[in-house]
Amino acid sequence: MPHQFDPTAQHQTPPKALCTLHINGQTRQVAVEQSAILLDVIREELQLTGTKRGCDMGTCGCCTVIMDGKPVLSCLTLALDAEGKAIRTIESLQEGGCLHPVQEGFVVKGGSQCGFCTPGFIMTATALLESTPDPATLDRETIRRAISGNLCRCTGFQQIIEAIEYAAAHLDEPRQPDPTSGKVANVMGG
Ligand code: FES
Ligand code: FES
Repeated sequence: MPHQFDPTAQHQTPPKALCTLHINGQTRQVAVEQSAILLDVIREELQLTGTKRGCDMGTCGCCTVIMDGKPVLSCLTLALDAEGKAIRTIESLQEGGCLHPVQEGFVVKGGSQCGFCTPGFIMTATALLESTPDPATLDRETIRRAISGNLCRCTGFQQIIEAIEYAAAHLDEPRQPDPTSGKVANVMGG
C-alpha cells in the first residue's frame, strides 16, 4: 500500500530526552531534543550567554568551552554527548569578583576590542595554560598553534598573544579585582 501523506506529521514535536550536564561546578538537568547542540543549551536553556555564537559551523572558535580539560567547539557538540563530562564556560573563570589571569591579560594587553571573540580565545588559552606543566616557558609558536582555530576580526592577534603570555607569567599571583566589572561583564563572563 502506498505511503499515505500525513499532513499533521510536520507539526509533531520530536521527543525530548533528559540531559544532565556538569557545568561550572554545578549539575544541571534540561530536557533536550536528541539533536540539541550544546551551544544552544548553554546559551538558551542555561542562560550562560558569555559563550558566543559566531559562525555556527566550527570555523570561528567563538563558542569554545572547556570539556574535560580540552577546548571544544560547543556549536559542533551534541548536548547529549556532553553528559558525564566536566564543562566550563567563561562564567566559571571569575572568582570572588576577581579576574582569572587570562582575563586580566586581555584587559592589560588590550586583547579585546569588540569582544565578540574574546570568551572563545580565553577558554582556549586557559585550557592551554592548564595543560602545560610550566606555562611560563610557553613559546609564541605554541601559543599561535593553540589559538589557530579562533578568529578575531579586530585585534590583529598580536595583543591576544601578548595577553596569553602575560597570563602565563602571572598565573601564580594573587588575583586582582575586576576593573571591567559592570562594563563588559558579558564578555568576561561575569
Ligand atoms: S560558533 Fe562555533 S566555531 Fe563558530
Ligand atoms: S575583538 Fe572583535 S572579533 Fe576579536
